[in-house]
Amino acid sequence: MIRKTMMKRSVGVIAVGALALAAVAVWAQNAAAPSGAAVSPVPTPAVPAVTVEGGSAPQTPAANDPQAQLLKQGEYLARAADCAACHTAPKGKPFAGGLPIASPIGTIYSTNITPDKDTGIGNYSLEDFDKAVRHGIAKNGSTLYPAMPYTSYAKVRPADVKALYAYFMNGVQPVAQANKATDIPWPMSMRWPLSIWRKMFAPAVVADAASTDNDPISRGRYLVEGLAHCSACHTPRGFALQEKALTDDSTAFLSGGVVDNFLAKNLRGDVTDGLGNWSEGDIAAFLKSGRNDHSAVFGGMTDVVQHSTQHMSDDDLAAIAKYLKTLKPVDPNAKALAYDDTAAKALRVGSDKSNGALTFLDNCAACHRSTGKGYTQTFPTLALSSTVNSVDPTSLIHIVLRGAEMPSTKSAPTHYAMPGFDDRLTDQDVADVLTFVRSSWGNKAPAVTAAQVAKVRKDVAAAPQPQR
Ligand code: HEC
Ligand code: HEC
Ligand code: HEC
Repeated sequence: MIRKTMMKRSVGVIAVGALALAAVAVWAQNAAAPSGAAVSPVPTPAVPAVTVEGGSAPQTPAANDPQAQLLKQGEYLARAADCAACHTAPKGKPFAGGLPIASPIGTIYSTNITPDKDTGIGNYSLEDFDKAVRHGIAKNGSTLYPAMPYTSYAKVRPADVKALYAYFMNGVQPVAQANKATDIPWPMSMRWPLSIWRKMFAPAVVADAASTDNDPISRGRYLVEGLAHCSACHTPRGFALQEKALTDDSTAFLSGGVVDNFLAKNLRGDVTDGLGNWSEGDIAAFLKSGRNDHSAVFGGMTDVVQHSTQHMSDDDLAAIAKYLKTLKPVDPNAKALAYDDTAAKALRVGSDKSNGALTFLDNCAACHRSTGKGYTQTFPTLALSSTVNSVDPTSLIHIVLRGAEMPSTKSAPTHYAMPGFDDRLTDQDVADVLTFVRSSWGNKAPAVTAAQVAKVRKDVAAAPQPQR
């Protein structure tokens, strides 16, 4: 009965529709500019090249200590950056690429980044590697699709790029596996509009600066904005599908975006739908184990926890948590929610005969309980949950239709699951039960409509609704 949702990584790559849009946008800006005032493309930042002492030839992975340490550091950074999430296909060899990534104009495949000389990046110098990872420019000079999150990696310091390079050249097994061409038809397959997009939206890459890693907040900011590319999913996108903000200069940063039919929710200080009520410890526990007293991980965040954050050091997780807690709420006037036991009492005595309440009793209460509080670390609470109280109900509809399974992590190995209800509940039932959940126990979020459920049902390829 329990089906595992197969998630295709379409991270950031939605950004690809940008292709066409970017060209249009440039044209539109030109058209809108007063006559004679030509729009000058944003100049490409001068490329502060990263240099390796002693030439770019990879050194042998000898047991000499500094090199071994560099490799270890590189491996850690590759995990924090989750390079494997996109560059390792299901059942594929590590980092050999070939993962299909959906975009509105066709499918893109991640590339082979093992050190194989013919099909991978074995012939890349450190400079070539840096250009791809931080500047979004392939060795042949063409621009990469922003599916590769180089707009975040631009923030990675050259010293860390060097460690990553050392790891990919000497710590990763070479695999001979040819890259797949995109399925994008001509003329959309032309890459030149991507370079316009890059010039408009990619930030300048950072230079090596004195490390501020001793200060947890700046360490946290460095990881969140850069390597861990949290904003690729959690920041809403603009007209050309670019992230609306790449830093905390604007409250759009990490305020929530929809990716793969899940809401990568608001991570700012909002008390109803953000992390306003989560302590630093709650955030770190979620990233380490995939669950805490407020929520359990699902959707695209499952991969992030499983392959990346659970492997981060406690210090780095604490730094990320501390930094996230500095983000001001989008809505500073929102009032914190308070628990209200009216719904729990009505469910217990059976006085609420609405379809929403009855559907909840029949299908959900066994795990999430009539109090809505669930069982800590096992069946997450629905009462006062920031997930439940997010205005956009995409995640809630998705999880009720398809179910979800918590990942097994090193610190929390048991993976509890929720069944999918797509073949048991009609669109109206799902809308009613979620509307009930969103207005009970102190929750205050807008009603869900059958039309919203029907759309998600189609988008996530759930079973057709049951005939009654
Ligand atoms: C969210 C998905 C994603 C993540 C995470 C990601 N990549 Fe990529 N990467 C891609 C895709 C897709 C391409 C191919 C883009 C294209 O064809 O234009 C790519 C291309 C590249 C290239 C260019 C390869 C070539 O053939 O020229 C390199 C190098 C690279 N990635 C390295 C990395 C490293 C190192 C990391 C981790 C620090 C990483 N990537 C993380 C999706 C990703
Ligand atoms: C591949 C897309 C993706 C990336 C990258 C990503 N997230 Fe998420 N995240 C999601 C989705 C989708 C959810 C909603 C599902 C859930 O709550 O587990 C989520 C939920 C969360 C939550 C739970 C919030 C709540 O109120 O329930 C936290 C905390 C979080 N992410 C932090 C991060 C941090 C920190 C990073 C960077 C290290 C990050 N995420 C990177 C997709 C992503
Ligand atoms: C068999 C027990 C079980 C049943 C029955 C069940 N759930 Fe769940 N529910 C879970 C588990 C386990 C999770 C965590 C899944 C994960 O994180 O991958 C969950 C997660 C959720 C979440 C996300 C909460 C969060 O913060 O992570 C929502 C919303 C939810 N369930 C609603 C419902 C509704 C509505 C129903 C009835 C239609 C229902 N559940 C039935 C076990 C159950």
